[in-house]
Amino acid sequence: MDGAQDQQLLDIRGLEVDFVQPRGVAHALRGIDLQLNRGEIHGLVGESGSGKTVTAMCITGLLRTPPARVNAGRVLFGGRDMLQMTENQRRRVRGKEIGMIFQEPGKYLNPAYRIGEQITESLRLHFQMDRHEATRQAREFLGFVGLGKNRRILRSYPHELSGGMKQRAMIAMAIACHPALLIADEPTTALDVTLQLQILRLIRRLKQEFSMGILFVSHDLSVVREISDRISVIYAGRIVETAAAHRLFKSPLHPYTRLLLLSIPDAAKRGMRLKTIPGSVPDGEHTPTGCGFHPRCPLAEERCRHRTPPMVDYGQGHRAACCLIGEKWIDS
Ligand SMILES: Nc1ncnc2c1ncn2[C@@H]1O[C@H](COP(=O)(O)OP(=O)(O)O)[C@@H](O)[C@H]1O
Ligand SMILES: [Mg+2]
Repeated sequence: MDGAQDQQLLDIRGLEVDFVQPRGVAHALRGIDLQLNRGEIHGLVGESGSGKTVTAMCITGLLRTPPARVNAGRVLFGGRDMLQMTENQRRRVRGKEIGMIFQEPGKYLNPAYRIGEQITESLRLHFQMDRHEATRQAREFLGFVGLGKNRRILRSYPHELSGGMKQRAMIAMAIACHPALLIADEPTTALDVTLQLQILRLIRRLKQEFSMGILFVSHDLSVVREISDRISVIYAGRIVETAAAHRLFKSPLHPYTRLLLLSIPDAAKRGMRLKTIPGSVPDGEHTPTGCGFHPRCPLAEERCRHRTPPMVDYGQGHRAACCLIGEKWIDS
């Protein structure tokens, strides 16, 4: 629900992150604003290199500084600024209050430990549970993610599981401590379509059964559409549009969003050539002046080169940042 302040879980304001490299400074995030409520799946979508993973890392406190440098902004989780915490405080929040799942479960699961040990260890650490109770709960979670309650998976090492099973095991680990917030960074990108649908269904059940807030990050708008209550579109380190999912699809305002929507394969248009957006996301070292999208925008005018458009509220929480809204349109 829009504007339900008491339900707000995550509030990111003006987040600016640079990467300091020998070649120069790359501006990865240039003022991210994003709010997420309890019990909401918020899709963060944009092309590769637009700043999605860096945003996710700031929330989980996994951003390494250096090479990164946070120049401005706040990442308030339940009212506390993740950026101001000590590493110890962040570690306590991560895993217990914030769960994470990634594209590559192999990187997250420890190859040297059995799946059961990895889940029970976090339960014992965060809840001081005894071994018996932790094992019982681990089996419950493995059952919930569709891996069966038997002991076989508990006793397996990550390399003994298929890709889809590893993804499910990682989800079981991420939710074992009942986190209020789940960060899912491209969790289905490496999976085939059937598995992708199963994992999406599972993530939706997490929201329903545990009222988790979920930030679902993907470069794929059709996947984000499948699952999100609200969607934010990111381009070159800024959110350019945010709205309830149905609104974004019914009446997209930003030219970038409109072009992204046109690039989705649609059953009715099957057989037609897929439109792609010419050009690519600028790298952080060469972000354009003014509106970051102007070099690729078919509507751009001279003023778009000079003026950074602010986010404007068009009602019911639908916000977009483009000077040309209401003046010029990209037709489908
Ligand atoms: N460790 C790093 N060193 C230098 N630049 C980085 C690093 N990580 C990310 N970046 C830069 O930050 C920008 C955003 O990256 P990222 O958040 O990974 O994009 P996305 O997840 O949307 O594909 C990119 O321009 C990328 O090159
Ligand atoms: Mg990424």
